[in-house]
Amino acid sequence: MLTKDENDLLTLVEGDAPMGRMLRENFWMPAMLAAPLEADGAPIRVRLLGEDFVAFRATDGRVGFLDEACPHRGTSLALARNEDCALRCIFHGWKIDVSGQVVEIPTEAGEAAVERAAQVKVNHYPAREAGGLIWVWLGKSAPGPFPDLGFCHVPLSQVSAAVTKVPYNWVGSIEATVDSAHIGFLHRDWLKNLPTLGGASMENTAPTYEFEDRPYGYRAAALRRLGDGTTHVRINEFVMPFHSSPGGSGDTQSSYQISVPVDNETTNFFFVRWNTAGPVNTGNLAPAGADLNNWVPLPGTRENNWGQDREAMTRGSFSGFDTFGILTEDTVVQASIGPIADRTREQLSASDMCVVRTRRLLIKAARDFMAGERPLGATGEVPYPHIRGATGVLTPGQKWQDELRMEAA
Ligand code: FES
Ligand SMILES: [Fe+2]
Repeated sequence: MLTKDENDLLTLVEGDAPMGRMLRENFWMPAMLAAPLEADGAPIRVRLLGEDFVAFRATDGRVGFLDEACPHRGTSLALARNEDCALRCIFHGWKIDVSGQVVEIPTEAGEAAVERAAQVKVNHYPAREAGGLIWVWLGKSAPGPFPDLGFCHVPLSQVSAAVTKVPYNWVGSIEATVDSAHIGFLHRDWLKNLPTLGGASMENTAPTYEFEDRPYGYRAAALRRLGDGTTHVRINEFVMPFHSSPGGSGDTQSSYQISVPVDNETTNFFFVRWNTAGPVNTGNLAPAGADLNNWVPLPGTRENNWGQDREAMTRGSFSGFDTFGILTEDTVVQASIGPIADRTREQLSASDMCVVRTRRLLIKAARDFMAGERPLGATGEVPYPHIRGATGVLTPGQKWQDELRMEAA
C-alpha cells in the first residue's frame, strides 16, 4: 500500500513530474518498432512522457527524431513530406534535416533566408536503432549508456519485436510482468502449452520468492516446491527502469517485456523475443498473423467486459479469454484496474513481493534524481547483453543462485 503522494510520485510522468524527468535524464527509451520507418516514407507521430514527437527515416537511412510541431508556426511534421534527407513542412515548405537543422526557408528570399534558417532551433533527440526498435534519448544531458540487451546482439532474423498501446499507466504494466503468482490462475488455460512451468504452477500456486539485488534492479526467483521433492524455479530479471525478462522455456530463446510511458494513462507495451540459435518460435502469445504494431489489442471495453466469453468459461476456460492469448489476459486485467491503480486501497499479500520491490526501486530512483544523484541502473555498470530470465528444476540441496546464473552465460 502506498500513500497518495507516493502513488503520484511513482506513476505520473508528464510535465515536471519527478519520475518523468528522472526517466528522460537517465535512460534510453524504446520509442517504436523500427520496421514501419521507411526511407523517404511517411513520418510517424510518437508520444512519450506526455509529449509529441515525430520520427522519420531520411533518404540515406538515418533516423531523425524531432518535436512534432514545425518550428515555424506549429504545423504537425507528421504531415510533412520526407524527401532529400529531410522533412519538408507542407504549410510553407521549411525543410529540417535529421540533426534538427533548418536547411531551407523557401518563403524567404536570398541571404536573409539562410541567416534565418541558421538561427532557428528545433528540438531534436539522439535516436538509435537496435533489436528491431528505435530508441531515443529525451534528456537534455549527454546520452547515457545504451541498454544493449541480448536481443540487440543477434541478427534481426532471430528477433521478434511487437508493441501494443495499452490504456493504463506504465507502472501497472510493469507490475503484471514481474508477478509470477498470477500464472497459475489468469493463464491457467495456457499452462498445458508450458509443460514444465505449467505443471509446476498448477501443482503449487503459492510460490515463495527470493531476491538478489543487482546494479540494474533485481533478480527474483519464484520457487515452487513440488511433490517429488524437486523445486521449480522461475527467475525474473527486472532491469531499471521498465524492462522485465521473465523466465521462459530455459533454452536459447528469451524475452523482454518493456513498459514505456506514453503519458500518465497510456503505455507502449513492447514484447521482444530473441533466439540465440535460430529463428524465434513465435508460439501462441498472440493470434497468428497479428499486426506487430498493434499486437494484442484489447478485445473490448469495460462496457462489454472486454469481450469475456462466459460460455467458454462454462465449457472449461478459466479466464474467458482463452481464444485471444496469454498477453490479452494480462492487458485485460490491467485495463480493468483502471488508468492508474489506486495503490492507497490495496491489500497486498506474500505473492506481491516483486511488485513492492519494483515500486520501491522506482520511487527511490525518482527521489535520488531529485536529490541530484544518479538513480540505480544509470551508473554505467550494467551487463545488459547477459541479463535474461531463466527457469529450471532444482534437486534437494541445489541453490538457484548457483545453478541458474544466466548473467554469466
Ligand atoms: S508551419 Fe511549417 S513551414 Fe510554416
Ligand atoms: Fe501474465
